[in-house]
Amino acid sequence: MSSVSFRPQDVPVGSLYDLMSASIAPRPIGFISTLNAEGRGNLAPFSYFIVGGVNPASLCFCPANRSNGEDKDSLRNAEATGEFVANILVRTMAEGMNQTGVDYPSEVDEWPLSGLTAAPSVVVAPPRVLESPVAFECKLHQVVRHGSGPHGTNYVIGEVVYVHVEESLWNDGMIVAAAFRPLGRMGGQEYIDLGGPEIFELARPKR
Ligand SMILES: Cc1cc2nc3c(=O)[nH]c(=O)nc-3n(C[C@H](O)[C@H](O)[C@H](O)COP(=O)(O)O)c2cc1C
Repeated sequence: MSSVSFRPQDVPVGSLYDLMSASIAPRPIGFISTLNAEGRGNLAPFSYFIVGGVNPASLCFCPANRSNGEDKDSLRNAEATGEFVANILVRTMAEGMNQTGVDYPSEVDEWPLSGLTAAPSVVVAPPRVLESPVAFECKLHQVVRHGSGPHGTNYVIGEVVYVHVEESLWNDGMIVAAAFRPLGRMGGQEYIDLGGPEIFELARPKR
């Protein structure tokens, strides 16, 4: 098999984004709820999102810098308050989630755009998404800035301090894994509904 081989810095960031998104797939999506320092809500999806381990329970989402080099609100808020909630998505939430994945100005609270329901968290101040079958309340462990300027890479690592699981998915102290089909992100505008499986597309709304 012959390969096209290159150094990452020799192709445009857009090509790298498409390549890494399409090949490191499907990815789970962390639907991240934060509050800013004044208490305004913020909700945004991040598919550069992973569980790191369970002792302690730890997960991470990766908000790239905006194209003007500024931090995204989710990063700024998590750093300012030390808290966030990572909500897990299912197919029925996809359209609502998609409305929030747009770089709105910081003053915009994406909750009303999503049509989803904010439910109080127990340990942290940002609300969780009631429609999410699984949600993890997190305290910020560390922000790792691996890059700077436009599209700079960041890791926001959270320690899970409280967990919510839909009752029907919890049996005898265990998740009923076979009954839970989270939404996954592929490359381009594709998603995978593991309940199908169905691959479907969602065009990002314009600002
Ligand atoms: C499904 C989906 C996944 C996304 N994943 C990421 C991601 O992993 N990293 C990122 O920087 N932006 C990602 N985005 C774009 C952000 O959600 C978008 O920039 C959002 O406006 C950030 O909001 P904030 O500034 O309120 O944090 C994704 C968008 C969608 C729809």
